[in-house]
Amino acid sequence: MTVQDIQESVGFLKSKGINTPKIAIVLGTGLGQMVHQINITHEIDYTDIPHFVAATLESHAGKLIFGTLAGKEVVIMNGRFHLYEGYNFNEVTYGIRVMKALGAKHLLISNAAGAINLNFNKGEIMLIDDHINLQGGSPLAFKNAKEFGNIFVDMSAPYHQEMNEQLENIAEKNNIILHKGVYASVVGPQLETRAEYKYLKIIGADAVGMSTVPEVVVANQIGLPCVAISVLTDECDPDNLKPIDIPEIFAMAAKAEPQLITLYTELIKQL
Ligand code: HPA
Repeated sequence: MTVQDIQESVGFLKSKGINTPKIAIVLGTGLGQMVHQINITHEIDYTDIPHFVAATLESHAGKLIFGTLAGKEVVIMNGRFHLYEGYNFNEVTYGIRVMKALGAKHLLISNAAGAINLNFNKGEIMLIDDHINLQGGSPLAFKNAKEFGNIFVDMSAPYHQEMNEQLENIAEKNNIILHKGVYASVVGPQLETRAEYKYLKIIGADAVGMSTVPEVVVANQIGLPCVAISVLTDECDPDNLKPIDIPEIFAMAAKAEPQLITLYTELIKQL
């Protein structure tokens, strides 16, 4: 991945008539409904965008969607790439760099996660206030990473404090329970063992998932203020662990999604 690759991706998108989006959004697993709130002007398959992703046989890659939401120009990644699909850190974070290069000024991320903090219930949502990277690598550890900016990126406040406060205020006004906590990222795709859930609790995680941290690290490198919300899809109690129920995970994501949409739509109005 080079800076020129990014510029070529951006050049292609501009040639399709895309304006500068103000806000970039990444929609997580089972969280695609927000797209229906958008006045869509362009939809572009990831696989059509030069360099966007090395299309693999398994990749049923998603779309980059452009349009307006609450009167603001937005670009949405409907579908993200995960390490567990065999993509590397550069591929997982490529879209973030492209959306920034297109001119996005804010990044709003969502994901599905398991609740480690047992005061939180499945079907509720959590504002990510901090994270623990357990993915065994960094999206800034590659040979020409310095071309893209400082690599010794400060992570003292990776999630934008002011936008977080805005989201908390919106939640309060709309009677939405918005927990706040620490998200631990793992590679997956297997779920965690009882011992791993215990460990995650001990190290201070409130939720665990398989995404988001690489995107947030890159956003911090390139100066793209970001926020992230987890939809809690299952309760990870090591002392009472039930086998994972994937349909239930999707059902819980669907249950909480309207709240996520409200929070992000109202935030976008304020940006
Ligand atoms: N672990 C990891 N990732 C997840 C989980 C979980 O329990 N739930 C949803 N994504």
